[in-house]
Amino acid sequence: MKFVVANDHGGIDLKPAVCEKLEELGQEVVHLGTYNKDSCDYSDFAVKACEKVVNGDADFAVLICGTGLGMSISANKMKGIRAACVSEPYSAMMSRAHNNANVLCLGARVIGTEVCKMIVEEFVTTQFEGGRHQKRVDKISKIEEEN
Ligand code: RB5
Repeated sequence: MKFVVANDHGGIDLKPAVCEKLEELGQEVVHLGTYNKDSCDYSDFAVKACEKVVNGDADFAVLICGTGLGMSISANKMKGIRAACVSEPYSAMMSRAHNNANVLCLGARVIGTEVCKMIVEEFVTTQFEGGRHQKRVDKISKIEEEN
């Protein structure tokens, strides 16, 4: 699978752990910046990465900021994006199994590198269960259409 990874200045320190784990799991990784600690706006990078997912240029995105919150709020404004802000492995697994999340948001000031790697592994290795959950995800899409 192809993953785009994007971060703001607050997320940059966690990016190596994310990319290392994705590559260890055999995923293709494309970095979209930011590449230094100069202050920038997380929403610019959320849009840049989510556009790739929506267009089909990437299968998934991982977005990293200080808390994961700004990235997830921004990402979820985009049609077709289901972004999960996660700080432990169980929710990472469930975000795929039940919510069919296509974007994982992480907080570099919230989690350490080892928990981060466990989260990434759950997100990558868990499949969407479909069935009754598909119906619920379809209802989320309907909210996008109607509002
Ligand atoms: C940047 O200082 C910080 O606000 C940002 O990385 C993120 O945590 C916002 O949600």
